[in-house]
Amino acid sequence: MSRAAKPAADPAGRGRTATRVKAVEEARDQLGRTAKEAVPADPPSQPQEIRPSSQVTLAEVQGHEGVQTFISLADKYLGEIGYTEHGFRHAGLVAKIGFNVLHRLGFDDRMAELAAIAGYLHDMGNFVSRSLHSQTGASITYDLLRDLGMSYKEVGVILAAIGNHEEEFGTPVNPVGAALIVADKSDVHRSRVRVKDPTLFDIHDRVNHSVEHSFLRVDSEQRTLTLELTIDTELAGVMEYFEIFLSRMIMCRRAAEHLESQFKIEINGAKLL
Ligand SMILES: [Fe+2]
Ligand SMILES: [Fe+2]
Repeated sequence: MSRAAKPAADPAGRGRTATRVKAVEEARDQLGRTAKEAVPADPPSQPQEIRPSSQVTLAEVQGHEGVQTFISLADKYLGEIGYTEHGFRHAGLVAKIGFNVLHRLGFDDRMAELAAIAGYLHDMGNFVSRSLHSQTGASITYDLLRDLGMSYKEVGVILAAIGNHEEEFGTPVNPVGAALIVADKSDVHRSRVRVKDPTLFDIHDRVNHSVEHSFLRVDSEQRTLTLELTIDTELAGVMEYFEIFLSRMIMCRRAAEHLESQFKIEINGAKLL
């Protein structure tokens, strides 16, 4: 019986090696781990397009038991360590200003509502710890929003906004985050000071206490975001204001640029920026 001819010998195993190399290259291609991945993708021309929308409303978020509990705890615990008010007043105001910023700058209604939701939730992480509260807040928010049925795309936008709202690590990465930064930093007011005895005020209390009126004016046509403050200079000087708020103002300027607008500040009627 004749035998089939044997394949040619391959003592160095070159055939097997070539096959393995090809398989690895194919796998890397599928994972996008080739030199091609270094080529930056074109940014989307309309970053405000977020689909699919889940239509979870601010009212639903406000009604969630976890949200109510955690905001209330955050405010209580910050009070224990001597911080200004960070409760429902601050959450509600930042939500409202954030909505207003995007709405007046021409973003769609859903994007403005996401800014309101991010604004309402942004300081919730303070009940875990003041340090890194933007990061812990984002982690806690994930479960709550998924619990309400929000889509991953929208949850992603809100978590990025919350995770980036503090000046130590924050950068405006999407319109919701930019609106949140400006809204949050605009809430400077004497009603936030908890210490009753002025002789015990620290610089934050003194500056907040000196602010009799604060308002973020959004001019849709000029695309300007102007923080208008009325300060009682008997209680704190304008320099003191800038001493503690300079980094926040720089962050607001970057946030406004992200929204293709300009951040301005007026104190007692004088334009300072
Ligand atoms: Fe915060
Ligand atoms: Fe805040």
